[in-house]
Amino acid sequence: MANFNVNVFLADVKSTYIKEKFVSLDGDDVVKVVRELGATDEDLDNLKTVSNNLFPDPTLPFRESRNGRFELDFANSKLNRIEFQPFVLSVGEDFVRHDSGMVRSFRGIGDDLQLNRAFQALLLLKAFIIKGVKMKERPSLNYSSDSLVSTVFNLRTITTPDLIGEPALEGVHADGVDHTMTTMLGKENLTDDSAITFIHDMREKNGTRWNEVNPNYRLGQAQHKKFLDTLLIVDHEIKHSLSPVHSMKKDIRSTRDMLIFFTRHPAVEGHVSHSYDSFNLHKEIPLSIDYPNFIAAS
Ligand SMILES: [Fe+2]
Repeated sequence: MANFNVNVFLADVKSTYIKEKFVSLDGDDVVKVVRELGATDEDLDNLKTVSNNLFPDPTLPFRESRNGRFELDFANSKLNRIEFQPFVLSVGEDFVRHDSGMVRSFRGIGDDLQLNRAFQALLLLKAFIIKGVKMKERPSLNYSSDSLVSTVFNLRTITTPDLIGEPALEGVHADGVDHTMTTMLGKENLTDDSAITFIHDMREKNGTRWNEVNPNYRLGQAQHKKFLDTLLIVDHEIKHSLSPVHSMKKDIRSTRDMLIFFTRHPAVEGHVSHSYDSFNLHKEIPLSIDYPNFIAAS
């Protein structure tokens, strides 16, 4: 711990992110960062088990889920929970799946997750890394806004003897946002080759299975192996795909628990999410956090 300087570490991660368009963070380092930002042992322990409280996913039989929306308000250096809105991803955003364009309603993230200081620290970590980063702009998003919406998914992908869990059933895709961050909370009974994330050039065709891609368009890979292993991707400049979850012991189920942080600028008229992009505060479970100085001043 003595040699670990959070500011130096995060500045280094940010410069790699800007240069390479994606960056992997070792979970041990992320634990150090979130501790510096106030997370306790209890927060870290609770984060490992919070995915036991998820609900069946609206469209995927092998997944349990919850989501919540947060405003990254860079003008006022605040992080705010914002109200429930349905969720939609379309083919126009490089998301080709049976439920593309379908308006989906997820159970909301509760206080068990949003009051966890390790979780809050992950949102702040992301805010620091993406703040001011210029990237290729998506159509129909308002890039003059200082407020970004971060939709966070808490997901458990489940493989049973009867059903293979697919962390990205959609094959090669993008998430329709500016910045995607994925963080592992836990895994049980996974084979070593399960859930590898592959990174692809934008020329790779959407919907291609992870193992049928053009090797010339493959830019790299990453795998979440332990608690808080994290990957960040500039979502409109590279695409990604994932291999399925396979069970080590075939007769019992496997689980892979993740947090997915999607962040983008607000949608304008004509964007598929325009009607679902409210920035009103969440009334029932409000949360508002001031950025620490190193983010506010960066
Ligand atoms: Fe994705």
